Amino acid sequence: MPDSSYRAIGILDSGVGGLTVFQELIRQLPHEKIVYFGDTARMPYGPRSDEEVRRFALQIIEFLQNQEIKMVVVACNTATAAGLSHYRAHCDIPVVGVIEPGVRAALAYTKSGRIGVIGTAGTIRSSAYQKALQEARPGLLHIIARSCPLFVLLVENDLVETPEAEKVAQEYLAPFKEAAIDTLILGCTHYPLMSGLIQRTVGPEVKLVNSAEEIARDVKDILTRQELHNPLQCADPGYRFFVSGNPYSFKEIASKMLRRRIEAYQVIL
Ligand code: DGL
Repeated sequence: MPDSSYRAIGILDSGVGGLTVFQELIRQLPHEKIVYFGDTARMPYGPRSDEEVRRFALQIIEFLQNQEIKMVVVACNTATAAGLSHYRAHCDIPVVGVIEPGVRAALAYTKSGRIGVIGTAGTIRSSAYQKALQEARPGLLHIIARSCPLFVLLVENDLVETPEAEKVAQEYLAPFKEAAIDTLILGCTHYPLMSGLIQRTVGPEVKLVNSAEEIARDVKDILTRQELHNPLQCADPGYRFFVSGNPYSFKEIASKMLRRRIEAYQVIL
């Protein structure tokens, strides 16, 4: 058993959205310590350039590496799309991103080969999902992708269950209904938090792929393969939360989302 197995899993996201990945990780790996970093002062990443997002992500990874971690989970789709291979080249521990697991799950679900992808402007512009899907099944898929920037704002401002949100969802998702997709990749940390509205809008026959569930499965596989599971089987392994912005508002939102009181600390990078 390598000594590093006692270390934590580091998660990075632009804000609170990555807590959907945190939730899945603690569900599938209840004995692992986790250090979470939300770059709340600089979010949203969606409209930023790849170069800037890469720079921010590397700063966070450096911070996380000083917190005794054994692997990095890039929970943010935009940061994954902007440069996963770049982060891997800068780290000597495993780095996983959300795109590969989401693509694999979509391919496992689709029957018609008609797949939709929604994400931030950065994620869709990068074509990371579209390329990964096409490479896996060249010429066999019909892929339709669209950025849905207002979705992040709806979630952040607790406006998902409003008539305005309904209208925005109808508008963004109409092309997916027309294209008769059977699988829709939720390519953004925030979208699982509005999956009810998305499912109602696209119809019950469309399978929604939640990257959070898929990446947690990948993390588990890596820990198993590399014998990195925490040997200490305690019920409360320890979770730490750091943010670049206001720790109090993060603490409030995160405690509500996770249904447990958490503390968050501000770090200026
Ligand atoms: N975390 C981002 C993502 O998954 C969404 C929020 C943002 O734009 O920063 O793409």
